[in-house]
Amino acid sequence: MAGAGLFITLEGGEGAGKSTAAAGLAAALRTEGREVVLTREPGGTKGAEAIRALLLNQDIPLDPLAQTMLHFAARMDHVAALIRPALARGAVVICDRFYDSTMAYQSYGQGVPLADVRALISLLGLKPDVTFLLELPEVEAKRRLTARASGTDRYEEMDEAFFTRVRDGFRAMAAAEPARFIKIDASPAPEAVVASLRQALRERVGC
Ligand code: TMP
Repeated sequence: MAGAGLFITLEGGEGAGKSTAAAGLAAALRTEGREVVLTREPGGTKGAEAIRALLLNQDIPLDPLAQTMLHFAARMDHVAALIRPALARGAVVICDRFYDSTMAYQSYGQGVPLADVRALISLLGLKPDVTFLLELPEVEAKRRLTARASGTDRYEEMDEAFFTRVRDGFRAMAAAEPARFIKIDASPAPEAVVASLRQALRERVGC
């Protein structure tokens, strides 16, 4: 485990309900008396949130490798200032997206070599204990994507082929690291998704 605490990340494509699920899991663990730090990427600290604004602004063109490095710059600050200290004092950290999103979006989606992202991950030196991959059936994922206001940030305005590559990327990563990833069906109601997360956590890490 990372430090004395527990580091949990949530991953998936757009519209899978990650943020709602993360908030629900945090609430459930707090009810049980755990200290929980709920955070997100890109973001989570003042500096990382400033980088997020730049990364999501589709009016500012940025080369994919530059985007990758900005995601990691934000992540380095987030890990140093918020995540590591929380883990060191024994908290549960729940992060809505982490480096697997860079693999999925920048490597599988935008073509940045996987080896470049792996090099940045090893520089970061922190790995989640558990990663939930929230998955939707293809039809439902498309329905939610079209129902959302499209084109409101850099990534939301990508085409369908991009999101297919992202989804395939997440699946490949989950298959390659079965000890860390837990796949969750995100199609039921939010409370049912939270219950699945809670149950899976108990089974996987006894927490
Ligand atoms: P959000 O919509 O989950 O808040 O995430 C913001 C967007 O940033 C989302 O479209 C996924 C994208 N993203 C990347 O492309 N690479 C990353 O490393 C992260 C963390 C997010």
